[in-house]
This record gives sequence, structure tokens and C-alpha cells, in this order.
Amino acid sequence: MTINIIQITDLHLYADKNTIAHKINTFDSAQLVLQTIQNNEKYLDMLILTGDLSDDGSVASYENLKYLLRNFDCPIYLMPGNHDSLEKIKSISNINNLHNQNYKDMGKWGIFMFNTKKDDSPNGILHTNELTYFDKIMDSKQNNFLLVMLHHHPVLIGSESMDQMIIENSSELLNRITNNKIKGVAWGHIHNEISINYNGAHLFSTPSTCYQAKPKSKKFTIDTSQSPGYRVIRLNDNGIINTEVTRVHLK
Ligand SMILES: [Fe+2]
Repeated sequence: MTINIIQITDLHLYADKNTIAHKINTFDSAQLVLQTIQNNEKYLDMLILTGDLSDDGSVASYENLKYLLRNFDCPIYLMPGNHDSLEKIKSISNINNLHNQNYKDMGKWGIFMFNTKKDDSPNGILHTNELTYFDKIMDSKQNNFLLVMLHHHPVLIGSESMDQMIIENSSELLNRITNNKIKGVAWGHIHNEISINYNGAHLFSTPSTCYQAKPKSKKFTIDTSQSPGYRVIRLNDNGIINTEVTRVHLK
């Protein structure tokens, strides 16, 4: 049995659906990505949204999110990013198919979704209580393999402005990638795609559903050569992850 996950990230929705950010209407762009998923992805067990769902943190922006997700029947997991209001995410979660929780047991696989949002800061952090919970899951025999989902990046990406916002204590996670149980770590936030191997785990980021960032740039610079996208993550019974990014083309 394969578990089919779609990761989408950094939608940056506003209260006003007509808002343009970096020359892109973020509502229209997210809508196009979601429509492409509905058209293209026959096998879909869950959607995981890895943060910066809203840009302005308004109630109306989360209503816009609910509207965009209305045609999906599968479970949808909402994670906060630095722009989000965790309280507002919680207020729309655990109703119908929208969820906000750290851990989902999928049998052989467990999925652990950290809240990397740090109060009053754009930087990332792993909170002690969630690390304690994560250790319990790591130590239990419940799952053979784990996929970790984050908003912020856990490794330096060579882009000065982004790297200031790295998960400050990411070594807490990286040091736990030793026993071949953590097979994958996925995140958003950096608005581009990278993929590396780390101690037997596959670490990767996913493009935003709106504007893209130039890799290894000093300041946050828009990359007009790249399009919005999403990522398919397939978790196989034997512990192997197959994953790829699909880009969509804005008219
Ligand atoms: Fe972010």
C-alpha cells in the first residue's frame, strides 16, 4: 500500500482576493494549483499545507482558504507559518475534513507536523513540548518510518535573508536523524525547491503556490523564471519515498 500525499505551501492569501503581491494574485495562483491537483492527481490520500496559508492573518483570509479547499474530500492538515495566526487556523480546524494536529498515524508510516512558528519573530523554532511528543512517537513501535513536516527550513540554504529565519534549534531534529526511522523531512517557507540527503533521510522543500524566490540570493529576490507548484509525496511500505514537484503555468 502506498500513501499519497500532496504538499502545498506558502499560499499567502489576503482578506481581499484581488490582492497582488510581487506581481501575482495569490488567490488566483493558489486556485490554479488546487485545480491542477484535482485534474491531475488520481491518487490522493491527504493534503498537507505547510504554512503561510495567510499573509495578513485575517479571518477573511482563512475564509478564502476554506473556499479554495471546498472541493477536496480527503483529510487536509493545516500547519502554521510565520505569517499565520495559529488561533485562527485552530478555529477552522477539526470541522469536516480540516485538521490541525502534530501527529497522524498511517500504519507503517507516521507523519509528524511541527509548529515551527516562533512568537513575535519570523524565525523558526522547535518547541520543547512538541519535541517531547515527537520522542514518544520515535520510541514507540507504532510506526516503522516517519515523515516530518515543517514550515521553516532546518538546514542552511545559502540565501542570507532566508537563512536568518532558519529553525534556530534545528539540530534538535537533525541530531535525531540517526536510526533510519525518519525517512523524510519536508518544508516550505523558502519559496523554491531543494532536495538533499542527510544521514539516510531525504530532506526537501516545496515551491510556493504563488511567487518564487531566487536560490542563494542575498536579499529576498523574486525568481520570475520559476512557476508556482506543488509536491507529490508517495510513502511506500518498504520505507522508500518517491517525490516530485509539479509546476503550473500562470496565464
Ligand atoms: Fe514563511
